[in-house]
Amino acid sequence: MKVLLVGASGAVGSAVAQALAGRHEVISAGRSHGDHCVDVTSDASVEALFAATGKVDAIVCATGGMFFGPLAAMRPTDFDIGLQGKLLGQVRVALFGQHALNDGGSITLTTGIDEPILNAVNASAVNAGVEGFVRAAAMELTRGLRINAVSPTVMTESLPVYGPYFPGFESVPSKGASTAAPCSACKSPPPVAHV
Ligand SMILES: NC(=O)c1ccc[n+]([C@@H]2O[C@H](COP(=O)([O-])OP(=O)(O)OC[C@H]3O[C@@H](n4cnc5c(N)ncnc54)[C@H](OP(=O)(O)O)[C@@H]3O)[C@@H](O)[C@H]2O)c1
Repeated sequence: MKVLLVGASGAVGSAVAQALAGRHEVISAGRSHGDHCVDVTSDASVEALFAATGKVDAIVCATGGMFFGPLAAMRPTDFDIGLQGKLLGQVRVALFGQHALNDGGSITLTTGIDEPILNAVNASAVNAGVEGFVRAAAMELTRGLRINAVSPTVMTESLPVYGPYFPGFESVPSKGASTAAPCSACKSPPPVAHV
């Protein structure tokens, strides 16, 4: 199978890449690493990605920044980080990606822990948004296309970043070491904040 993996250099993406390597042809994409550079916050960039890859059998998206912080201090611009970076970014990949899939192909999006967690209102809402999109979109896909959301728990490798937000949660090792190199086509990463 030809699998497009967006976010292939990340903690989750590199584990997925390692799991698929050898069994499938994996095309990696990311903001500044991989076979293709793409900015999932841009329609034009995602359209260009699929124009470059041509038809694929599966699309996996493991991207998405979110805002972590207390509700009392949260501003709409903080909340927008997850809306644009994670929810709409993954939805954008799915919307354009459905037309790039061969019959029977699949789209896999990435949510996260779905229990309410302190200081993670943005993450909780955005993950629920991805879930809701997937549930409804699954009914409308044609040609045997499938869409799923996976919900990994916190990765052991990500504990230095996310650990303080997930007290009491058991982490899992990603087993994937990122070997991504900067995309040769990129002069510099797109100027998009990633949290
Ligand atoms: N890490 C965890 O413990 C964990 C647990 C559950 C769920 N998740 C979810 O899994 C997803 C990935 O998390 P992660 O921890 O693996 O993130 P990460 O390590 O920060 O990696 C993010 C990946 O996404 C790419 N990316 C970032 N912004 C992008 C953009 N605007 N356009 C295209 N690609 C972009 C990065 O590419 P470059 O390297 O090229 O910049 C990188 O490959 C997120 O939705 C997160 O909520 C993570």
